Amino acid sequence: MIWQNVSALNISYFRDVGRSQNMKAIEAEGLRKEFSSGVVAVAGIDLEIREGEIFGFLGPNGAGKTTTVRMLTTLLRPTAGRATVAGYDIYSHQHEIRRSIGVALQEAGLDAMATGRELLAMQAKLFGVSTSQANNRAAELLELVGLVDAADRHVKTYSGGMKRRLDLASALVHSPAILFLDEPTEGLDPASRQTIWQEISKLNSQFGVTVFLTTHYLEEADRLANRLAIIDRGRIVAEGTPSGLKASISGDVVTVAVSPERRDHAGSILSQLEGIKELRSEEASLTLFVNDGTGVVADVIRMLDSAGVPVGSVAISQPTLDEVFLRATGSRLEGAEATQDGGKTL
Ligand SMILES: Nc1ncnc2c1ncn2[C@@H]1O[C@H](COP(=O)(O)OP(=O)(O)O)[C@@H](O)[C@H]1O
Ligand SMILES: [Mg+2]
Repeated sequence: MIWQNVSALNISYFRDVGRSQNMKAIEAEGLRKEFSSGVVAVAGIDLEIREGEIFGFLGPNGAGKTTTVRMLTTLLRPTAGRATVAGYDIYSHQHEIRRSIGVALQEAGLDAMATGRELLAMQAKLFGVSTSQANNRAAELLELVGLVDAADRHVKTYSGGMKRRLDLASALVHSPAILFLDEPTEGLDPASRQTIWQEISKLNSQFGVTVFLTTHYLEEADRLANRLAIIDRGRIVAEGTPSGLKASISGDVVTVAVSPERRDHAGSILSQLEGIKELRSEEASLTLFVNDGTGVVADVIRMLDSAGVPVGSVAISQPTLDEVFLRATGSRLEGAEATQDGGKTL
């Protein structure tokens, strides 16, 4: 089995992070990036990520996720703020940080003409090991991410999911304590996404690797992250465990479909509803945060009906992370994946 083979790796590297018992894997304070174009991509964020955690960084395209990853991985100099990664300062100890982390970036370019095995062996050699050690390491990693059968094929023949697994393997060449994954499943089909999730979970649970994972997929953050921060327009707007964040919206969510032309009128009527905690308008719907969904549905329909506003549908649900996002920012995250980077049209 894969994991027996893996035990042959020098996994002490994975665990050899204990410079201090309660050391934070990642800490940031007031981290900010303003590009010369004047775009404030990250507007001063604080982070505290414990060793062994899977930390989710959830936000729509253009929110500042990649910029944050690039600053923490010492690829981009912040405009202001401070941060430590694996206990090392990002300004003064870049070399030590790079040795302690693995990074799979969103725009990672794999050499399509090389085979998976060649690419991994080459990566390993960059860390100064002998050719035979590099070949052994490549073989272990191919096993780890389930690419043994495809190991000697050119990367250009790999599916999207296989390329991501190879990305993951190449970030693990030097057995890093902290792994940065920038949108690891973006654009993948649901089955490939599940495979990547399983691999990330295994790395975390069996080797104690701390994972900093960015995503704009709600389900990914919900399923994988022990804790998460929601980022929007460069700011962290909510933070906590997935269940804690959902529980912070106590009660029910009632979604009322109305035509865009009548929406504002319907909104002003429903804001009078007894027991309403908050109301958010979107294109063709209104979202009501209430204590008791079933208790208000009849009132919603009656009030809109007597004002002559046709109601498309009324749905009651439990709060999801999408509603956490909606409550915090006024717009929904779901569906944001269709937009272009930087062009956030929610
Ligand atoms: N090199 C750059 N120069 C100028 N603006 C940039 C640069 N990189 C990113 N941005 C802008 O910064 C914002 C955040 O981008 P990014 O961190 O890539 O967001 P995300 O990864 O969450 O999609 C966007 O408005 C983006 O257009
Ligand atoms: Mg990005």
